[in-house]
Parts: sequence; structure tokens; C-alpha cells
Amino acid sequence: MKKLLVTSALPYANGPIHLGHLVEYIQTDIWVRYWRLRARDAIYLCADDTHGTPIMIRARDEGIQPEELIERSHKSHREDFDRFYIQFDNYYSTHSEENRELSSEIYNQLKAGGHIAERNIEQAYCVQCGMFLPDRYIRGECPKCGAEDQYGDSCEICMATYTSRDLVEPFCAECAMSPEWRESKHLFFKLGDFQDRLKDWLDAGHTQEEIANKLREWFEDGLKDWDISRDAPYFGFEIPGEENKYFYVWLDAPVGYMASTADWCNRNGANFDDYWRSDDSEVYHFIGKDITYFHALFWPAMLMGSGFRTPTQLCVHGFLTVDGAKMSKSRGTFVNAATYLEHLDPQYLRYYYATKLNSRVEDIDLSFDDFVSRVDSDLVNKLANIPSRVLSIVHKRCGGELAAMDETGRALFDQVRSQADNVGEQYAAREFAQVTRSLNEMAADINTYLNDHIPWTVAKEDPAAANIVLTSALNAFKVVATLLKPILPEFSQKVADMLRLDDLAWDDLDTVLENCPVNKYDRLADRVDRKKIDAMVEATRESFSQAEDVAAPVLTTDALVDCAFETMLLASTEPLTDTDKLSKLTVTAQDGPRQVIAGLGHDVAERGVVGKNLLVLANLEPKKLRGHESQGMILAGTVDDVPIPVQVPDPQTRCHVE
Ligand code: MSP
Ligand code: ZN
Repeated sequence: MKKLLVTSALPYANGPIHLGHLVEYIQTDIWVRYWRLRARDAIYLCADDTHGTPIMIRARDEGIQPEELIERSHKSHREDFDRFYIQFDNYYSTHSEENRELSSEIYNQLKAGGHIAERNIEQAYCVQCGMFLPDRYIRGECPKCGAEDQYGDSCEICMATYTSRDLVEPFCAECAMSPEWRESKHLFFKLGDFQDRLKDWLDAGHTQEEIANKLREWFEDGLKDWDISRDAPYFGFEIPGEENKYFYVWLDAPVGYMASTADWCNRNGANFDDYWRSDDSEVYHFIGKDITYFHALFWPAMLMGSGFRTPTQLCVHGFLTVDGAKMSKSRGTFVNAATYLEHLDPQYLRYYYATKLNSRVEDIDLSFDDFVSRVDSDLVNKLANIPSRVLSIVHKRCGGELAAMDETGRALFDQVRSQADNVGEQYAAREFAQVTRSLNEMAADINTYLNDHIPWTVAKEDPAAANIVLTSALNAFKVVATLLKPILPEFSQKVADMLRLDDLAWDDLDTVLENCPVNKYDRLADRVDRKKIDAMVEATRESFSQAEDVAAPVLTTDALVDCAFETMLLASTEPLTDTDKLSKLTVTAQDGPRQVIAGLGHDVAERGVVGKNLLVLANLEPKKLRGHESQGMILAGTVDDVPIPVQVPDPQTRCHVE
């Protein structure tokens, strides 16, 4: 069998792991654990995806260096994964020397092959923030339907897609300033050069057919060049041979799979080329459907153009919904891994996801009612119930020692054992829902056998006869617990301990335990307490509502003495009708008239403030809001949500901070 390299997508370093992510990591982990159970040479690699604008901005907002932010995320991601029994062989980072070298090497190869083009493009630049604005950081009015406050690439109201250049009255999502348009040189990867090879690759069945079909649509108009460079400031790797240009995060992100391999190889005396420059290994990428384009087109093309092997298989999965709807912060269903762990056992989620997962791309739903009933009826009542009943009688009536199986018992064992290969095939094919169905059927057979032979009654009169039944049931259950190991490693280990075995191995499926002592039952799973689910949802809802209305920080007087408040006479006001509530105010300051753009509503004049003296913060740096310069800030209070500017009775009043 070929060596196996398996990856999950690299989570972004700017946020915590949540239940949606876990669909993927649990799915991959189960698959890899299955291969380990079959003693196959398999490594499971991952890393944090650390580069790009959101991470740079998040660090800037927190007043820390990006390196500090990504280190913190790395630690908390690893902790979450450990607690869900996600067993990576290596969890690395894209912000690593190996990744810098490999990304540069791939780029240099693509360039040498003539696959890199240069072109000047015009892009939004925010002077206030000092950076070019990616589409997600520029907002404005939709050019098609006129909806306000839409992203730079698409409208959430009419679903139109466009370029940020088409946005009406664009503004920076971070600081609300109108951007400038600046031209700069960008580098492009000529994806079209690989059109034919990519088509062949897709036809060769390297991903699910539904995904391949979707991708074939993209070929129809011809593949477009891919912009792989970003201008400084950017948190990422500098492009060799260029000045102030960085690789776009999606260029170095998948290379992170290789960097993680290189680091693992270095530390384990293995050879990187055996994985990435050889057909004697297999490379499997588990990914969500949202990042298919990057993995099924850009990534294989990058590998083709730089002399590396292409992936064996892209295993694409769908998205998680909770109780039939998109995960939602306000409904409390956007549950972080850490929040889940404060309330519920991680094994429940591993088991529940397994009952839902298959090899197709369809979304999977976490229904809390279904979650409770699956865990209670399968895990607790069917599976854990067997060793619980058997071991208590063995210890109460049979001196804690097993007997030998008889013919009927042997038949049960053989019947259960005979299904192992079938279950193995279901695992290999990523049909985990079928695996759980098979295991439950096997457990049901054992429970039926126990109910037919009622060892708890027989044991009172004839413990030896009862022990034959108990021994047979326990041996059959050992098979089930072994096959359950990829899904519930801790559960299986506990069963091994009860049986006084080091672990449960595939190669020991035929080994039966007879005439030997066994340990007492150790609780394997508890019923789900529905109240804990409600508490988890509530905690999630609260955590997000707090994050949204952040309390104002405590200031020292230093922050205030720099403020120059002035009374200014409001001469006139005019609504900016193409905005929600902005008005253009003309005020008379000591040094003459000024224009202030304020969010006081379009009808501010109706509040009797024209001709009155208002309190204004006078020494703010002038700033453009929706294309109009604002030269100060009006102080206001609200009455029933209506903003009322603060008035000063006597224009001679001098305002200052006491
Ligand atoms: N950083 C990129 C991947 C780079 S791989 C070279 C990224 N990160 S992510 O944190 O947004 O997502 C990581 C993985 O989790 C992706 O495969 C994504 O599809 C998956 N999921 C994120 N949210 C999900 C759900 N709600 N449901 C199922 N999977 C989801 O994308
Ligand atoms: Zn800005």
C-alpha cells in the first residue's frame, strides 16, 4: 500500500474554531484513524493559515503585532483540536521558513516557465488606513439596485456581482473615508496555460463528480489569469525579485500543506520528496465546498507548473447548518469549540457528525433534538449498555472472570466478526453514516442475544451457564468497540482497559477472551442533558451580544485635553439624500465658515437648531465621508433615538475640559 498524506484545510488565524470547522476536522480525523487502525503508513497534517489583510487589520485593531496574534491563535486552535481528539501528526504554520522557501520556489518555477504575467491595475486605496482595500474592505451602494452599504464584489440584496470600481460612493469599511484610485503593478498566474491538463485531471476522477461538473462550467469561458500579488502593507511573504510586493494569502496557503510536511519530515527522519515528488504516495485534501476553486484549479495548476505531484483526491464536504438554518450569532447557534466543551462531551459531537457524514458534498444539519436522541439511543442505550450489563454480572456472580463460548455464542461472535470487512470498506469510502448504522445493527444483535438468554436471571441459579452467554456477548462487543475506535477513540480505549488489553487492534479481531479476568465496568457515556445544550446556546448568544456593544474604555485626562471644543453657529443644513441619515451642515467658527458632515438625520433642521450655537469638536483632522469633506464633529445627545445637537446658550461661552 502506498504511503498516505492527508490534510484538512488550514483554518484562518484570525478567529476561533467553531462547530462548522469541526465537521471537517472530525471527518478527516476519523478517516485517518481508520487507516492507522489498519496499520497503514499515514500522516495527518495541518497548520494555521496566517497571512492576509483580515489578520493584519485584526492585529492592528488590537494594537499588537500580527506575529503575536497568530501565535495566540495557534495555541488556542491546538488546544481545541486536542480536546476533540483530532490527532494531527503535525500542526504547523504558514508563517514559517519552510513555507517562505517553498512558496518562492514554486513562484520561481512558474515564472521560469513563462506562466507569470505583469499588468498594471487600478485599485481602491484608503489614505486614512494607508492601504489598498480588498473587496471585502470597501463598501458602497450597489450599482445595480442601489442598496446601501454593500461589499466591493457583490450585493447581498440583489445578488449582483461587480468590481469595486463600479460601486457608487465607495467608502473604506474600516474608517468610512472615500478611497482614492491608485494604479500599481500586479503579478498574475496564467491559469489558462494549464487549461487542458486541468481538464484531464478533473476527468480522471480526482474529486466528486458533482464538483467536477461545476468546475467544468468555468472552463467554458476560458480560465482567467489569477492575481497573486498584493502591495505593501500586507502581512505575508515578499515576492522574490520584486519590491514591496507580497504573495496573496491564497498563493502561500496551500503551500502550507507542503511546509507542514517538510517540518514533519525534518523531525521524523523522513523524506519530503517521497510525498511531493513521487507517485509512491497518495495525497488527500479534505476541504469545504467554499474553497473548491482554490484547490481544484489554482493548486493543481501551481503544482503542475513547478514539478510537483498533484493531489490524489479532493474530498469535498458541505456546510453545517444548525436546526436547519445557517449558524447564527444572534440565535446562539454559532457555537465555538471552546464553548461547546464547557457544556458537552466532545465524544457526542464526534459520534453525531459520524452519523451524518458521507462521501457527498451535501450540507449536514446539526439538529439538537436529533443529537440528543442519537447519543442517548445509540451510544448510551445500545452500545455502552452491553459492557455495562455484562461486566456487572461477571463481577457480581462469576468472580470477575470470563468462561468459554459455546456454539451459539460462537455463532454470534462469528456473525458480528464477519461484518468487519464491510465496515472497513465503508470507512475507506468515507461513508461514516453507514458505519454507524452497521455498528448499531451489530450491537442490536448482541442485545437481542442477551435478551434471549437472560443471563441476569440465569446467573442467580447457574452462574457458569450465564457466564458462557456473558463471555460470548463481550467478545462480540469487543469487535464492535474495535470498529468504533476511529470515531470514538476514548470510548474504545476504555473498553480495552476493561478487557485488560493495551488497545483494540484490527489484527486482534479474531482473538477471543476466554477464561481470563476482566476489570469492572467504567462509565462509557452519559445521557445528554438537554439543559446543557440550552445553556451552551445561551452562552453563545451572550458572548456575541457583549462583543457587539463593547463598553467604552476608561480614558485618562490626557486623551481629553487635546480636544478643542468650540461653540459654532449653525448657519444652514442640507440632507445628503443619497445616504441614510447624513446631513451637510454649515457652521460659523471663529476662523470662518466650515462644512461638517454629521449623522443627525435628514430632518435635523426640523429640530429648531438652525441659527443656534452648537458644541463642536473643532480640531479633528478633516476627513471625506461619502465624498464630502467634514471639518469637525457635532456633539449630540439622543431623545427617543433622535439625535439632538448640544446647544450652548451664549456664543461667548468658552468650552473646555475641567
Ligand atoms: N484558510 C482557508 C483554507 C486554506 S487551505 C490551504 C479557510 N479557512 S477557514 O477557517 O475559513 O475554513 C477552514 C475549513 O473549515 C474550510 O475547509 C471550510 O470549508 C471549513 N468550514 C468553515 N466553516 C464551515 C461550516 N460552517 N461548515 C462546514 N465546514 C466549514 O477557508
Ligand atoms: Zn480606511
